[in-house]
Amino acid sequence: MTNTDKTILVIGGTGMLGKPVAQQLKADGFKVCLLARNPEKAKSMLGDGYEIVKGDFEDAGTLKAALAGVDGIHISLKGGPREKDFDRVDHHGTRIIAEAARSAGVGRVTLISAYAVSEEKADTPESRSKLKGEAALKSSGVPYTIFRCSWFMETLPLFVQGKNISLIGNQIHPLHWIAAEDYARMVSKSYQTDETLNKELYIFGPEAHTMGEAMKIYTEIAAPDVKVSPISTGMLLALGMLSFNTEWKSMSTLMGHYERHGEDGSSEEADRLLEKPQITLREWSRKNQRNIQ
Ligand SMILES: NC(=O)c1ccc[n+]([C@@H]2O[C@H](COP(=O)([O-])OP(=O)(O)OC[C@H]3O[C@@H](n4cnc5c(N)ncnc54)[C@H](OP(=O)(O)O)[C@@H]3O)[C@@H](O)[C@H]2O)c1
Repeated sequence: MTNTDKTILVIGGTGMLGKPVAQQLKADGFKVCLLARNPEKAKSMLGDGYEIVKGDFEDAGTLKAALAGVDGIHISLKGGPREKDFDRVDHHGTRIIAEAARSAGVGRVTLISAYAVSEEKADTPESRSKLKGEAALKSSGVPYTIFRCSWFMETLPLFVQGKNISLIGNQIHPLHWIAAEDYARMVSKSYQTDETLNKELYIFGPEAHTMGEAMKIYTEIAAPDVKVSPISTGMLLALGMLSFNTEWKSMSTLMGHYERHGEDGSSEEADRLLEKPQITLREWSRKNQRNIQ
């Protein structure tokens, strides 16, 4: 079967990390279908050449309809910021989709996950939900590939507010920052071999930098007017509680998780099967200069 004969459904194709995967699958010749809550938004973000099915993974009818004739499903959903929403999306969302895929005879399901997802490290609502989601996919019986990714370079601009980039917590661990473009190429390639089936693959970029080092590289190249401003997780939590800001409280929990846990696992197998990521943070920053106000 060639790529052009295969249809891949992307769930979360309007997301920061789902969109580049949908685009790369299309560029590699797959027929790409999107399950989108807002088809107009999906069409305006991705353009022509995609089949867009209006729906929601929580609506069994639309999910079933979207699975008709599909060879693979890529899940790129995001839960939170409340505990129940991590559980609903990262855990039950993955379970519902995997079970529906199994019933429909879909050939494989691929899932984005994170490197610090394991029994020992599941100490936050997000990591617990992701771990349960991974377990549900593995026990569903559908062939799978799980991508346990390191931090994406694309998240760096999200920490910028005005002239400051917030370095939250004591982030001492070296991290292999990965560009979404490299990751998307690897996901698409995973659909072109059966060697990736029933595996958890660690997706690590070419170089390791602590979060502070990465913010320094990014701002020096792409946002020279922005300076790194450290804030503790405790202070962010206090600010979140005082202002009833659920996002800040959740961010404080997330960054506490990454204070405690560095990368483990090896990217050797992913690099061998899917070609090692090439894009360095410096290269990515040069291509992603911020417009200075
Ligand atoms: N940031 C990192 O460095 C990193 C590293 C490893 C793993 N990850 C994980 O990567 C995943 C994706 O992150 P992201 O930043 O791409 O998230 P995002 O931009 O928020 O995208 C989430 C996507 O899910 C869709 N969605 C949500 N609920 C849905 C529903 N009920 N039915 C159908 N679609 C629904 C959204 O669609 P709408 O357009 O309709 O909202 C959107 O397309 C997250 O689980 C994250 O934890 C991130």
